[in-house]
Amino acid sequence: MHNDIEKVVFSEEQIAARVKELGEELSRDYAGKKPLVICVLKGAFIFMADLVKCMDVPVELDFMAVSSYGASTKSSGVVRIIKDLDVSVEGRDVLIVEDIIDTGLTLSYLIEVLQGRKANDVKVVTLFDKPARRTTSMEANYKGFVLPDEFIVGYGLDFAEQYRNLPYIGVLKPEIYTDDAK
Ligand code: PRP
Ligand code: MN
Ligand code: MG
Repeated sequence: MHNDIEKVVFSEEQIAARVKELGEELSRDYAGKKPLVICVLKGAFIFMADLVKCMDVPVELDFMAVSSYGASTKSSGVVRIIKDLDVSVEGRDVLIVEDIIDTGLTLSYLIEVLQGRKANDVKVVTLFDKPARRTTSMEANYKGFVLPDEFIVGYGLDFAEQYRNLPYIGVLKPEIYTDDAK
């Protein structure tokens, strides 16, 4: 285990098992369709890679990077597109892949943008959901795990851009982070 990690919350095996279940559920729901699967960079990159391997439908992949605008807080609800999609979403069945939903601001904004571009359907799959931190009415269509308000890292999720490569989900030792951790 990494020296900065206090405890492992979900092991590699636990995550893999849940991702497989989600992939099977999505395969059933998207049967006969060709969804455009959108990864929200950077956090969702590992989940996206593992999830699509478990999806038995012809998927097309694209990537989008977003960031909250300006200061470190997301309370403004203004999200900036850092990297946009390469393809048009018009008429497409879009599946947004997220690693975690906190306030819901990132996804509320993204959904609005994609609907504005006339996607046929926009759905969300998130590996983790922290409903306690929600400031919007955002609800994912598919969720892996519902979590208490605890700061987690690993499997794509960072603290100050570190720990994304950990194969498990863990909680950092308190001395590693401060209260403005996101
Ligand atoms: C994190 C996470 C989600 C978002 C959730 O991304 O990966 O995308 O925050 O928070 P919200 O529901 O309050 O909007 P972050 O902005 O840290 O960027 P990253 O994915 O590059 O780490
Ligand atoms: Mn993110
Ligand atoms: Mg982050």
